[in-house]
Amino acid sequence: MRILNFGSLNIDYVYAVDAFLRPGETKAAKSLMVNCGGKGLNQSIAAAKAGNAVWHAGLLGGAAEMLRDKLAENGVDVRLIKPVPEQAGHAIIQVDESGQNCILLYGGTNRMLTKEWIDAAFDAFQAEGEGGLVLLQNETNLVPYIIEQAAARGLSTALNAAPMDDGVREYPLDKLTWLIVNEVEGGALAGTEEEDAILPALRKKYPHCGVLLTLGAHGARCMEPGERVTRCGSYRVRAVDTTAAGDTFTGYFLYGMLHGLSIPDTLRLATTASALCVGRPGAADSVPEKAEVDAAIAGERFGALFIGQEEMQ
Ligand SMILES: Nc1ncnc2c1ncn2[C@@H]1O[C@H](COP(=O)(O)OP(=O)(O)O)[C@@H](O)[C@H]1O
Ligand SMILES: [Mg+2]
Repeated sequence: MRILNFGSLNIDYVYAVDAFLRPGETKAAKSLMVNCGGKGLNQSIAAAKAGNAVWHAGLLGGAAEMLRDKLAENGVDVRLIKPVPEQAGHAIIQVDESGQNCILLYGGTNRMLTKEWIDAAFDAFQAEGEGGLVLLQNETNLVPYIIEQAAARGLSTALNAAPMDDGVREYPLDKLTWLIVNEVEGGALAGTEEEDAILPALRKKYPHCGVLLTLGAHGARCMEPGERVTRCGSYRVRAVDTTAAGDTFTGYFLYGMLHGLSIPDTLRLATTASALCVGRPGAADSVPEKAEVDAAIAGERFGALFIGQEEMQ
């Protein structure tokens, strides 16, 4: 089944500094790296590397062709990416000597989607085949409109509610097939910081939607709409760079769900892919290919993984 990702496209400007800028200060950066980024772009690439057929839909700002090239190189269909003259979405990232970062995000063209363009993208996607899953993150405007349209058109949907903000509570989340959150986003939506209380609270609020909750080094949990919860641990790996760990998990989770894998097999696949991702630096480039993930599972490269299922009361 195909994936249509209405996703953000960002240029990440990563500046090395000895210490973060203070108010009123001007200083030279030690170096600059220009990377492809945006949760949307990362998730399209992760989903494509996992083996999904992915269409990325988005508005590409001025002088940002590298983002479209990166998606195309990774096998993503880029025909629904529309170049526009306005400022592209970007992030200004300072990284200090201890490796901490602080990030200033500008949404740019990611927040200039129009209903007319969204409708046209849906039409083009649906003209080329039946069914599909619509993937969303919270880095574009009109997310609620896209959720409503996908439901009205009979497409399934997955929203990664990141970055979290107050607006997400007003989205029609009960129309989703899958809500994907980490412990921060899930906790904010559920109104609790207790790991074990997040899924029961979300089930009460959104009884029709499945929830994938990732918990960093604590693993992940998947609640099917209804009652069953599958818990999965994580592998003990040396974390070099956890950027895109969640995006990798999402891409591989969707592969399992769209290709008829069981939930335990899907979680094993996604956990193994994420373990490979956190072991190397970078964002989209650190997402492993499916063959590497399959080999790691077959060779029991990371040892044993706890997976258990329980019915919710
Ligand atoms: N330090 C870690 N060690 C092992 N696995 C990790 C680590 N951090 C993340 N992962 C894996 O990546 C998945 C997603 O990470 P998480 O931090 O929950 O996502 P996000 O990037 O959205 O915050 C986890 O469920 C886990 O399988
Ligand atoms: Mg995390």
